Amino acid sequence: MAELRTPGRRVSRGVSRRGFLGLTGAAVALGAAGFAGREFLRPGQPGLVLPSQAPLPGRFEVSLPVPPVLRPTRSDGTTDYYDVVQQVADLEIVPGLRTEAWTYGGSFPGPTIVSRSGRRAVVRHRNELPHPTVVHLHGGHTPAESDGYPMDLVLPAEAGGAAGGHHAHDASGAAGSVVGQRDYTYPMEQRAATLWYHDHRHGFTGPAVWRGLAGFHLVHDDVEDGLHLPVGDRDLPLMITDRSFAADGGFHYPLLDPAMEEHGVEDRYMDGVLGDVVLVNGAPWPALRVDRARYRLRFLNASNARRYRLALDPQPSGGGVLMQVGGDGGLLERPIAHDAIDIAPAERFDVVVDFSRFAPGTRVRLLNRLGEGRTTEVMCFDVSSARVDDDARVPTRLATVERLDLSRATTTRTFRFQLSADHGWTINGEPYRAGRPSARPRLGDIEVWRFITDVHHPVHVHLDPFQVVGRNNRGPGPYDAGWKDTVDVRPAGGVEVAVRFTDYAGAFMLHCHNLEHEDMAMMADFVTE
Ligand code: C2O
Ligand code: CU
Ligand code: CU
Repeated sequence: MAELRTPGRRVSRGVSRRGFLGLTGAAVALGAAGFAGREFLRPGQPGLVLPSQAPLPGRFEVSLPVPPVLRPTRSDGTTDYYDVVQQVADLEIVPGLRTEAWTYGGSFPGPTIVSRSGRRAVVRHRNELPHPTVVHLHGGHTPAESDGYPMDLVLPAEAGGAAGGHHAHDASGAAGSVVGQRDYTYPMEQRAATLWYHDHRHGFTGPAVWRGLAGFHLVHDDVEDGLHLPVGDRDLPLMITDRSFAADGGFHYPLLDPAMEEHGVEDRYMDGVLGDVVLVNGAPWPALRVDRARYRLRFLNASNARRYRLALDPQPSGGGVLMQVGGDGGLLERPIAHDAIDIAPAERFDVVVDFSRFAPGTRVRLLNRLGEGRTTEVMCFDVSSARVDDDARVPTRLATVERLDLSRATTTRTFRFQLSADHGWTINGEPYRAGRPSARPRLGDIEVWRFITDVHHPVHVHLDPFQVVGRNNRGPGPYDAGWKDTVDVRPAGGVEVAVRFTDYAGAFMLHCHNLEHEDMAMMADFVTE
């Protein structure tokens, strides 16, 4: 298998020339005005809808699945150990259709891992898929060797014999590539938060996640326990993804090279691939029966490129029904009441909805006000008429959020996320090259990072969360509160964040989380020291 012989070769090969020819012409001809025009044609939404070839499923016909919680294979005084087998599985996502998926443990989403802050989790990933993979814990405060550096492949187990785990070729990352399986060690020295894990292989993250490689990893702590937010069945992780389905039921994706030797998607999808079916926890437009009680809904946008504007319909009188209690990096200082929430790829919004504000029997739809046609709907909640107890609360003060002191910032760095005529999607004009860091922040320093864009780019930074300090020379926006690891930078926008990297020296990533942009090289290394 070509991958096995040359796991590091792709670094210098970069993106496919062929893939950018069409784009180059268009970009040169239209210039900046061309982007403005394209954004204008699809307000708020980069990317192009890939129509399904299979008949679309109905709405609200499937009930909401909740991914299984993974049990540790063993635990000791400090650590919980988990095993995940990455494998092809046939799933029934659309009723009556068989979809061949790439899965963590046979399900999409993969199993949810639940950790306690301060207790280490060691997750052994065994790759029984036909392609190399890399696992990244998004939002994890993780040492470099377990962070899922995009060149640190886990090569398919069968290619390397039964035992696996030994090192193959060292690419440029610290951990290098291994055959068969790898143990990822997560110290979990971090606040309670909604994290997620997903594939991160250089150049192929888009198709791998689209085919199913994503799951939740939740962290709990004592501060959260003390609040009495909704728990148990009333604490629901909701992974929102859009997908398209091929005639044979498989996930439809416009790969430039179906053999996956070359990176990238067909030219016209390079802005991003949008599906025409909305899935929540892997089910199309699901329905959930809810009690007239408070629910904690942990929204994760795990879509490749689609942005959503989430709103409930009807809105109860008085509004503010989406009571945000947390973001990417955990609990906010105080709850924020929203009527709608804009969520870009990889962002998380943790909200409490009080369904007792709706009349018994109401069907409450979760809408996407940025959608088109069927993608204007996401799921529905059917409010039951039974009387129930609800002792959950949303306190007016949630948690302490240390404010990073900008007057102590040592450095300001600017990262331009832009399309380049020669290189495709770039940061500061450079396509991704492993081992060429674009910044060397010192551990413990506070820095200001400025992200500037042409079109929409959801910018993500590994290792430590950041705080948004300004947007387009104004204060932070309504969805910028708290600790974040991904920020939705709007077209021709500028966002400044304050960040302080801590604990772990090594090579980490900064990239656009529109996965088509990421795969087509909108990524950079930074090295902490
Ligand atoms: Cu969610 Cu570097 O990724
Ligand atoms: Cu990440
Ligand atoms: Cu982007």
